[in-house]
Amino acid sequence: MPISERLSRLGSGVFARNDQRKAAYGRRAADPGAALPPLLDLSLGSTDLQPPAVAIEAISAHLARPESAAYCLHAATAPFRRAVAGWARRRFGVEVDADREVLLLVGSQEGTAHLPLAVLNPGDAALLLDPYYPSHMGGLHLASARPVLLPLDAASGWRPDFERLPAVQWDSLKLMVLGFPHNPTATTGEQAWLDAAVEKALAHGIVLAHDNPYVDLALEGEAPALLRNPAWRECGIEFFSLSKSWCLGGYRLAFAIGAEWLITALRQLKGVVDFNQSLALQAGAIAALERAPEWPERLRAEYRRRRDAMATALEAAGWPVRHPSMALYLWLSLPPQARDLASEDFCGALLEGTGVALTPGNGFGPGGEGWVRLALVHPQADLEAGAERIGRWLARR
Ligand SMILES: Cc1ncc(COP(=O)(O)O)c(C=O)c1O
Repeated sequence: MPISERLSRLGSGVFARNDQRKAAYGRRAADPGAALPPLLDLSLGSTDLQPPAVAIEAISAHLARPESAAYCLHAATAPFRRAVAGWARRRFGVEVDADREVLLLVGSQEGTAHLPLAVLNPGDAALLLDPYYPSHMGGLHLASARPVLLPLDAASGWRPDFERLPAVQWDSLKLMVLGFPHNPTATTGEQAWLDAAVEKALAHGIVLAHDNPYVDLALEGEAPALLRNPAWRECGIEFFSLSKSWCLGGYRLAFAIGAEWLITALRQLKGVVDFNQSLALQAGAIAALERAPEWPERLRAEYRRRRDAMATALEAAGWPVRHPSMALYLWLSLPPQARDLASEDFCGALLEGTGVALTPGNGFGPGGEGWVRLALVHPQADLEAGAERIGRWLARR
């Protein structure tokens, strides 16, 4: 069957191959005769931590209501949008127009992937950082846009150096997609970095999209936010999510706050694609935003413990760790015992030797080669047991 050129450009190969290897290992480990350690999957940012009870109770209470089973048109999302405006006021001290500047999303991934279709023409240039979150690149391919990569490097603490691009290249850009705290480098970043991007966006007429699902998960300091720079009303759109701060990833609840013209454009595009999220799920999101503001702080405390324990355990196992400043991930350069391997081969060999699955860094762009991502999404004891397995394997190499 023919498929479109844009689909063939998506290139999800690294993650698909990693998933196949995990599935094959899992099948073999399930056979008691194989005597293999069980699969410990640290390759996905899908947490074991639970959402607040008030959110789940609100969803349950709304499930039986007839309107929850109906299509939800934009007008019906008003209570959610007002809850978001209240959150923005409390969180950032920013007054947001709930009707014109807020949009419900079916996950922030959905929003960032659709935005390029709403603001770019085929062939338009758009800037991504390298390494990047894969769906940011996917969104550009779906829109037949031309990606321009700005490499980040460890030596500068993953700070984007916007002056690396000449003015003529800035003039050619229509969109830039950034995200701090940054996945996969696990770097919180600084407000000044985002403010520098805003200046470029204003000077060169570029839309600035800031993907901020980890805004509440900075472990050191405060996360940057586009909403803290008043220019968001002119040229920016910021994406927030209930997935990470309230552990509701499977429920697909997120929102964008942005310049009215960008919210209008994305809403028009989504009008073709979906009917918003069910009212029952929106009730859960409203409860989380309004009645569980303390949840992210609890998560931070737990992720801090996990990060510190895992860093200590891996270092004891002979794998040096750069301490990340945000929750959820460790971004590790390949250990000295395995520097001869490519990221993907290393992850394959580690899985075979230990049952621990990590994400190969090259799946996040060329800048991720030589790195792997480890997600802190299991209890501390399991993480430490995984580090021990890794240590024994590294010692044998
Ligand atoms: C940078 C980034 N954006 C978006 C997402 C997905 O968020 P959501 O569940 O809101 O779609 C993730 C998830 O890992 C992410 O790391």
